[in-house]
Amino acid sequence: MITVLVTGASGYIGSHTIIDLLSQNHKVIGLDNQINSTLKAYKRIESISGKNIKTYEVDLKEKEKLRQVFIENPDIQAIIHFAALKSVDESVEQPTLYYENNIVGMIYLLQLQVEYNVPFHIFSSSCTVYGNSKDMPVTESSPWMPAESPYGLTKQVGEQILANLANSTQNFGAISLRYFNPAGAHPSGLLGEAATKTVRNLIPLIMEVGAGKRPLLQVYGDDYPTRDGTNIRDYIHVMDLARAHTLALKHLEEHPEKLPLQEFNIGSGQGVSIKEAIQSFNRVTGLKLPYQIVARRPGDVVAIYADFTKAKNLLGWHPIYTLDDILSSAWAWEKNKSEFLS
Ligand code: WQD
Repeated sequence: MITVLVTGASGYIGSHTIIDLLSQNHKVIGLDNQINSTLKAYKRIESISGKNIKTYEVDLKEKEKLRQVFIENPDIQAIIHFAALKSVDESVEQPTLYYENNIVGMIYLLQLQVEYNVPFHIFSSSCTVYGNSKDMPVTESSPWMPAESPYGLTKQVGEQILANLANSTQNFGAISLRYFNPAGAHPSGLLGEAATKTVRNLIPLIMEVGAGKRPLLQVYGDDYPTRDGTNIRDYIHVMDLARAHTLALKHLEEHPEKLPLQEFNIGSGQGVSIKEAIQSFNRVTGLKLPYQIVARRPGDVVAIYADFTKAKNLLGWHPIYTLDDILSSAWAWEKNKSEFLS
């Protein structure tokens, strides 16, 4: 049981991970600037876990406010760093917003982590570090291609900073978890993805179309060199993703000896096309999702899905939720989401 500072705590993956950390009896301190989340998430964490957590409303770019968190909580022994902007297409439209928010914020956090001797760091990285990889599925040693978006570049830079720090700093162990496409919602139906900025990811958009909030889903291109012409992605249930963080923390605690940065793919290992995701939605809901093929979206990679053997062997992690579980849990959440955001 240790004290963990979670940045991006009221966000989608952060809030679900906190529930898993609390279930393992860790003490959690939550921090978020609420740019893309609502404080209600903390109430839902309490309803689901039966525990409430100390929280701070701080932007990582406010270094002296962030320092206060370390001063007031000298028992912090690990940081799980989620706080970042994460839309591929928004980063193409607003690159400097992404570079400033995702990289400057991370640098201040790491400088304070080292200054206050916090030994463990888990970084929310992404499969976008691979770019348009030639390997499929990608493994952790697949060479990085140029990032296809400013978002992807902020994750490549973040991993590079961590690798340099892990090599040069005593008493500092770091793990980078490379998420594929996070989706789905907590089985209770009380928590799920509820971005307060514009919804841009495929699964939440499918839900909004299904709920009649949008007339149809725009499919960004069906002329890709894939089995049905649409992009292939690896959708991973947010609860599987949450468990990966708790297991990564356990791994760091069990291996405090000086190690270089360790990276792990956290994906289902299953490549799913856009049309196959739509078919899954239709299967679990009995509806027929209306969609229209439109032009390709800048920044999209053609196909990517995970080889997660390393996480299985070293962290003891593997996904337990299926694609249909993802779509049905997201659909259940869609019906509760508006009350959560009201
Ligand atoms: C998925 C596919 C679109 C919307 C995400 C996260 C990023 C990172 C990687 C964790 C693409 C297509 C989408 C729509 C569509 N994950 N699409 N119509 O770009 O793979 O990136 O996973 O760090 O944070 O954003 O996800 O959901 O935006 O797109 O056809 O209306 O769905 O072209 O092929 P992406 P996405």
